[in-house]
Amino acid sequence: MDIKDKSLLRSEAYINGEWIKKETTFSVYNPYNQVKIAEVSDCTQVDTESAITAADHAFQIWSNYTANKRSRILQNWYKLIIENATDLAHILTIEQGKPLQEAIGEIKYGASYIEWFAEEAKRVYGDVIPGQSRKNRITVIKQPVGIVGAITPWNFPSAMITRKVAPALAAGCTVIVKPSEFTPLSALALAELSDRAGFPKGVINIVTTKDAASIGQSLTSNSKVKKISFTGSTPVGKIVLKQSADQIKKVTLELGGNAPFIVFADADIDAAVSGCYDSKFRNGGQTCVCTNRIFLHESIHNEFIEKFATKVKSIKTGYGLDKGVEIGPMINEDAVIKDINLIKDATNKGAKVIAGGMRKKGLFIEPTILCNIDSNMDIFSSEIFGPIAAIYKFNSESEVIEMANNTKYGLASYFYGRDYALIWRVAEALEFGMVGINTGLMSTVTAPFGGIKESGFGREGSKYGIDEYLNIKYMCWGGVE
Ligand code: SIN
Repeated sequence: MDIKDKSLLRSEAYINGEWIKKETTFSVYNPYNQVKIAEVSDCTQVDTESAITAADHAFQIWSNYTANKRSRILQNWYKLIIENATDLAHILTIEQGKPLQEAIGEIKYGASYIEWFAEEAKRVYGDVIPGQSRKNRITVIKQPVGIVGAITPWNFPSAMITRKVAPALAAGCTVIVKPSEFTPLSALALAELSDRAGFPKGVINIVTTKDAASIGQSLTSNSKVKKISFTGSTPVGKIVLKQSADQIKKVTLELGGNAPFIVFADADIDAAVSGCYDSKFRNGGQTCVCTNRIFLHESIHNEFIEKFATKVKSIKTGYGLDKGVEIGPMINEDAVIKDINLIKDATNKGAKVIAGGMRKKGLFIEPTILCNIDSNMDIFSSEIFGPIAAIYKFNSESEVIEMANNTKYGLASYFYGRDYALIWRVAEALEFGMVGINTGLMSTVTAPFGGIKESGFGREGSKYGIDEYLNIKYMCWGGVE
């Protein structure tokens, strides 16, 4: 692999500050050509127990550091990640497939969570609350919840880790990360840099495995683990939630989405086309906040499609390390088959292909536009997670709001329009945790990322993100006379 600092390429698990080489390993492949790139330690429940024990010891030390001291170590980590951004991005592209520029963007986006929460660590304020009795005084302090189990996905192998780990560490918690079996190398590279940053051993542990279910079970069933933060599919999120219920663990769930993208009659069409492109095709369509259903007002339907199709037909797909490539491969064969079946189901039921529509060699699907979509097609209710734009036509505000909200998911939503009264009405009516108004990209460390309904609960990033890793303690001071 063409990276400057070869020591970032680790294949052992990272537990209690040590690299753990296991005899049993699993293979990691480059999704572009299915060439094997690494054999990674395949941890078991026993290894997870060691990581929990290490995190438990480390918690006694880390949670007693001052916020300033924790902040400084987090800042060291942030700086190291930025210094090594190109190498980290290279590793990310090789194991996940996204184009190098986009991977560099992810590394910086991920690092921004560390920088942000290094600052927030120092602002975990309590309260003094006026009481109802002259005899009592009321104070509130916030304390770290304890050991956190972070289960992270393959679509953002770096940023989804830092988005959980940074607020947890800032709060004074210690963590065990279980990265996706498809993309463990980015997690291990982050661990290598955390080692250099000066975290005490056991504060960050990375348990690599291909048996996600059994490691998930260990994390959710061990009473020392006080919090689970999971990003992934809604079906798996439900399992994590059920398992965590036995011990009433604190849980954050960032699950699937089915984002509507609505273009009203008065919208700036060029801006809407560009926003739709960004939100639909970012990461090849493989994000939870990607546009899933495009609703066009009948008066601008044809104009939008014509402009959008010109853009989509020019997309360059290929190897993420090659210049000019905009979309890489899908992550695996299952993902390709699922999406090809969605296209087949839609076209069998009357959808029209405007662009693409076919599988290409390897794990590629042509960037696709389908129109004449209706709610009887599987694509209406499925999270596409691929480069397929599904277009619906509408003629009234109430009709489109009803269609947009007609989903069990409630993560991201987008719309374009100019009338400010309409903007307020629609933004308030959309049953989603996030609303992009005249923009197709809204993820940023400064804003609360998260969903409602079956898209989960809890918020990541922003001033709210650290609360997910803190307990509130109320102290009642009696006899004050
Ligand atoms: C995700 O797909 O889970 C995260 C996307 C983002 O942070 O924008």
